[in-house]
Amino acid sequence: MNLTPDAFPEDNLRNLIVEALARHTKIPKTRIISQPNREKYWNPENPLDATPELDEVFYLMRALNARALRNSSIAADEMGRLNFSVAIARFATDIADAIHDRPFTYVEMGPEPIKTTCLIRCLRAHGVRLTGYIGIDINPASEKPMREALASEIEPSMTHFCFRDFANLASTDVHTEDFPSLITMLGFQDGNEHPYTIARRLKKIVLPGDLVASEMHVGTKSTFDKIQEFYESPEMKRFSRLAFERIIGMLPSEYCIHTLDIDAGFASPVPVCVTSESFEDPDTGTTSLCATNWCLKLSPLQHRYTREAGTNMQIIAERRTGDRTISFQLAEAAAYDRALVRTYEPLATTLPENTNQMEKSQ
Ligand SMILES: C[S@@+](CC[C@H](N)C(=O)[O-])C[C@H]1O[C@@H](n2cnc3c(N)ncnc32)[C@H](O)[C@@H]1O
Repeated sequence: MNLTPDAFPEDNLRNLIVEALARHTKIPKTRIISQPNREKYWNPENPLDATPELDEVFYLMRALNARALRNSSIAADEMGRLNFSVAIARFATDIADAIHDRPFTYVEMGPEPIKTTCLIRCLRAHGVRLTGYIGIDINPASEKPMREALASEIEPSMTHFCFRDFANLASTDVHTEDFPSLITMLGFQDGNEHPYTIARRLKKIVLPGDLVASEMHVGTKSTFDKIQEFYESPEMKRFSRLAFERIIGMLPSEYCIHTLDIDAGFASPVPVCVTSESFEDPDTGTTSLCATNWCLKLSPLQHRYTREAGTNMQIIAERRTGDRTISFQLAEAAAYDRALVRTYEPLATTLPENTNQMEKSQ
């Protein structure tokens, strides 16, 4: 398969996950229930109203981030070096360096207050001038706590929200006047969709000069056990159960974590962590599975390649935590079509012309 981002179907990752789960668990596909990723985060009957469940989803993410920044052993190496908060602060210096004396708008895909205030404070401490903040979310529960968190960092009249599906954004939604934007996708959310879906969405909104910052788990043999620990946290278990209740209802269920490889259309398989709830179907008495979350755990090279493939983005900085589990990646939208003008060699990832095979870059 050699698909380009534009040719790739939007919801394809979900099908790949269900097929991989069926192979792995031997439960037939017909007994594996799933919904598109966005369904966990909104209320289709009343999209602008935050229900108590949507509030809880927001606060679960916030709690995970608060612990990551507070606990100095999280993501540190064996000597206690380069923990999560040190790595994110260093990443802020990369962003400040790339912004270099230009006014920027801070755009957050999937707002959360803890890492964002940390990043914005670091950026301001490095002299960055922000022209405003735009939060993009399908979950309206984020607006109030975000406004409170940002009030001391950004003039409140310059803080805006757009409650819309990421799939339906235009570049005007993520820019103010003629200023370039720093677009952040934190909390591994880059891995909730197929890389080509993300590439296609970015192509619709990113303008030359914009920066795209992403936080991702890095899937390698040595990091998988630690990544699995993240899914054993009470917050992720509760998140899974909430998704189950939305899809299936209040039946008893058992939480499971699956580490699978999927064929996402590249030359090398892509690791993915899937959480599910197994339950007994009351109609048939058979064991069924509800896939409650999935997140690709790309290798660093896969993440670089997928950000650059089929877009005019180029990676300009990367930071890893001491335990090597989390990568902060910064890409810049070039003012030219990279397929036509190859003016530089990005890190070690440049591929031969006309190839879509990740293995060649590894
Ligand atoms: C995995 S959470 C990450 C939250 C936050 N960025 C963090 O670092 O913790 C995904 C976020 O993206 C939002 N989201 C997910 N899918 C979306 C979609 N299709 N359109 C708009 N927002 C979406 C969710 O509401 C949530 O805020």
